[in-house]
Amino acid sequence: NPANGTVPRRLPFSIVSQQDLDFFKQLLPGRTITDPDLLESSNVDWLKSVKGSSEVLLRPKSTEEVSQILRYCNERRLAVNPQGGNTGLVGGSVPVFDEIILSTALMNQVLAFDHVSGILTCQAGCVLENLSNYLEERDFIMPLDLGAKGSCHIGGNVATNAGGLRLLRYGSLRGTVLGLEAVLADGKVLNCLSTLRKDNTGYDLKQLFIGSEGTLGVITAVSILCPRKPQAVNVAFLGCSSFQQLLETFQCCRGMLGEILSAFEFLDSACMGLLEKHLKLANPITDSPFYILIETAGSNAAHDEEKLHNFLETVMMSSLVTDGTVATEESKIKALWAMRERVTEALTHDGYNYKYDISLPVEKIYQMVTDMRKHLGDKAKNVVGYGHVGDGNLHLNITSPTKDPALLAAIEPYVYEWTAACRGSISAEHGLGLKKKNYIYFSKPPEAVALMGNIKSMLDPRGILNPYKTLPDNLR
Ligand code: FAD
Ligand code: MLT
Ligand code: ZN
Repeated sequence: NPANGTVPRRLPFSIVSQQDLDFFKQLLPGRTITDPDLLESSNVDWLKSVKGSSEVLLRPKSTEEVSQILRYCNERRLAVNPQGGNTGLVGGSVPVFDEIILSTALMNQVLAFDHVSGILTCQAGCVLENLSNYLEERDFIMPLDLGAKGSCHIGGNVATNAGGLRLLRYGSLRGTVLGLEAVLADGKVLNCLSTLRKDNTGYDLKQLFIGSEGTLGVITAVSILCPRKPQAVNVAFLGCSSFQQLLETFQCCRGMLGEILSAFEFLDSACMGLLEKHLKLANPITDSPFYILIETAGSNAAHDEEKLHNFLETVMMSSLVTDGTVATEESKIKALWAMRERVTEALTHDGYNYKYDISLPVEKIYQMVTDMRKHLGDKAKNVVGYGHVGDGNLHLNITSPTKDPALLAAIEPYVYEWTAACRGSISAEHGLGLKKKNYIYFSKPPEAVALMGNIKSMLDPRGILNPYKTLPDNLR
């Protein structure tokens, strides 16, 4: 695992030959990329932390083309790395060695939208933000939203089971994805592109592909249930003097804003410092140890504003919240959201990032950050916490001026042991990819991991799909 210094061995896959290139060029004329300059960005992950050396990038436009590619690669035993927008944060989206990159970038067509049910069916390579814009014009929204929306693909979101900023309200993709189409390793097309809310005809096979990180099949299309666009959206950005007060504010918020609450996010003062320093974003309120971003989305502006007003009055009067600002106008809403969404970007300017994406009982969330700070002392440049409080999901990030093996040895396995002791998850929403796969046992019993291995062998017996990812090394 390059993240912690040990590099896996290349498995005995074939090496792409001239004959293979001829086949791909005939199948995908002008869409078989071998120019090293063009391949450069597809070989490196968003965090610039892992780098492959693929010499071929394929850009199919249809399910049939994906099917032909995989059938051929399976027969030839050529390894394949499915890639969407390449915004993944665990090193799953780029090759480790010379795997062929299969990009969904040109599979970007909306196939159908039902205005009555709100069900959208589209190809896997549609960019999330483009889908959001498409739906907003029709008075609907996507059930998920995340900081990477401008680049990530819906297929990549489904393949990672991305959570994001609206999960608290609309639930996970495991509930909103109604159907999907995937191409299996041998090229067989599995058409489970159902658009039914209810379907109990046997095993729900689409769930296998949701969160499978490109290891079981290439997702080529999805159908997804989309909510109506809310008539009124409000955002409040608040300051709290302790994490305990933040938690009490959360409880109060759930009680008083209940059905209109669409996000409850947090960042600490260290994150605010990075936003100010690296992105020149100004803190919209007075300095506080913790910041909360609350979003409400409802159908009646006057009703929502009254509710929000009552809630704010209560938390201010009881001194749970020390300062705050509210936005109802779109540009100000966006500016407040930037304070939360752009923490990821600010961190990349602070040095090398060690990223942890942990599920914990909500009351334990910040204890992990303070314990880690104490544990690391001056070994780290910054130790920051932010994330999706409403989902019990902490993003613990540690920076250092450069990659630092001694620092990493101090963080891991400490962070995973800490998580396991609380019965948390070592990957709440980003997946395991390359960086986290060998820590799976901290969150899953060996019997469950072994069953994952059996499923992988059944669906991809030659192991060509995203090798070196998700499954721990001992299962290879
Ligand atoms: P990629 O990065 O290209 O791929 C991710 C994985 O999915 C890889 O293993 C790849 O092989 C596989 N894959 C991609 N497409 C397919 C396909 N069609 N079929 C099969 N496998 C496929 N994640 C969250 O959960 N919540 C967040 O709030 C969040 N915010 C983010 C903010 C930023 C700024 C960034 C950079 C990332 C964020 N992420 C977040 C990480 C998240 O996993 C990705 O942004 C997104 O879901 C990945 O989509 P992608 O198209 O970029 O996939
Ligand atoms: C977020 O919630 O901002 C994302 O998951 C990205 C990150 O963890 O930095
Ligand atoms: Zn997140």
